Amino acid sequence: MSGVPDDAPSIQPAGVLEGRVLAAVQQLCFPDDRWEADFVETLLGQPGSFGLLAVDEVGAPVGCALARVVGEDAEILTIGVLPQARRGGLGRRLVRAVCGEVERRGATALFLEVAEDNDAARMLYAQSGFAQVGRRPAYYIRREGRVAALVLRHSFPN
Ligand SMILES: CC(C)(COP(=O)(O)OP(=O)(O)OC[C@H]1O[C@@H](n2cnc3c(N)ncnc32)[C@H](O)[C@@H]1OP(=O)(O)O)[C@@H](O)C(=O)NCCC(=O)NCCS
Repeated sequence: MSGVPDDAPSIQPAGVLEGRVLAAVQQLCFPDDRWEADFVETLLGQPGSFGLLAVDEVGAPVGCALARVVGEDAEILTIGVLPQARRGGLGRRLVRAVCGEVERRGATALFLEVAEDNDAARMLYAQSGFAQVGRRPAYYIRREGRVAALVLRHSFPN
């Protein structure tokens, strides 16, 4: 039968060689906080770091995640879905894929920071089993002023 496969977009590992693609996706997801390709390549080259790239049925990248495991702690460095691919469950699948990979690598806790005014991401993380463990006032600088970062944690196994 033709049509979009059930698991589309597919989520694939991304390393230093995919750094430029990952950076391009990150930039489209975070227009006000764009990461240069060199920076993404450096992050991907660090021990414990890994990337994920979501690719649609014609091979176009539509989402990404970058995370790192240090000992028993892990951290999501960035995660995003292109605007045209949002609200289809891909963000949730990327979070699930990161959780699976960090647990496989031996992490017992996964942390991330999210802007207090980022309702979409906060809902996504709440649904994915993250709980708030901290708050950093005035952490993000915006044109309109500063916004706090919430520190969230997911524990394994839970
Ligand atoms: C946050 C983001 C990754 C969500 O990706 P997505 O593919 O749209 O998310 P999903 O379709 O998997 O949605 C999962 C849940 O997140 C929440 N959510 C997603 N978008 C939302 C929105 N615009 N408003 C409110 N809740 C939203 C919902 O609870 C949703 O569950 P539901 O579909 O059962 O209602 C995406 O909006 C994005 O890339 N934003 C810009 C980058 C960003 O902010 N990244 C996170 C930084 S910490």
